[in-house]
Amino acid sequence: MSGVHIAPPEMQPKDFAFTAENLEKAKAIIAKYPAGRQRSATMPLLDLAQRQHNGWVPMAAIRTIGEMLGVPEIRVLEVASFYTMYNLAPVGKHFVQVCTTTPCWLRGSDKVVEACEKHLGVKCGDTTADGQFTLIEVECLGACVNAPMMQIGDDYYEDLDAESTGKVLDALKRGEKPKVGPQNGRQTSAPLGGPTTLTTFNPPAGNAPVGGDD
Ligand code: FES
Repeated sequence: MSGVHIAPPEMQPKDFAFTAENLEKAKAIIAKYPAGRQRSATMPLLDLAQRQHNGWVPMAAIRTIGEMLGVPEIRVLEVASFYTMYNLAPVGKHFVQVCTTTPCWLRGSDKVVEACEKHLGVKCGDTTADGQFTLIEVECLGACVNAPMMQIGDDYYEDLDAESTGKVLDALKRGEKPKVGPQNGRQTSAPLGGPTTLTTFNPPAGNAPVGGDD
C-alpha cells in the first residue's frame, strides 16, 4: 500500500463549509452520540465532507470537522490518514481499490492488479491523465468469500479474473454502469452452479411451516 498522500498547499482550498443540506445531515449524525462523545462522529463527517468535495478531504474540512466536534484538528487528521477510504488529495472520478490481502492474493489478485494497470495505463497509486480513474491497492475489504475483488466508488466487483476486471473497467470508460457483485455468474456467495444445500423444504408431518397460519 502506498503512503498517505496529502495535497500540496497550492491545491488546498482556504475554507470548507458543509452545504446547508449536508450541515443538517452532520447535525443529525452528531446527535446520535451521547453528550461528550461527539468525536465518535469523526468518520461519518469525514465521509460526508469527502462526498461533498469531489472524493477527497481537504485540510480545511479537517479543521471544520475538528471545530464542529470540539477536538484538535490532529485528532481528525489521524483518523483520515489511517483509513484508505479517505483521500487527502484529489482522485479520479472512479476510485479503484483492489484488495491484495492474503485471501484475494491466493485467488489471483495479482492478475486483477495487472489487468487494471494494463486497461488504465497507470500503476497503483496513480490517476489516469484524463482524471477518470485512480488505482490503489488496499487491505481486506471484507468480501473475502468472493475473492478476488475490487471496490470502485461505493460498489464491490467480486469473483474477478483478468478478463472480467477489464470488462468492468471498459464499461465504466464507456460511461456505463457495470453489474455489481460476483462477475462469474454465481449468486452472492453461493457455490458456483447454484446452492447445494437447503434446496427443498420438507417439514416433518404435523409441523406448520415457519411463519405459516395457525
Ligand atoms: S482479503 Fe480481499 S476482501 Fe478480504
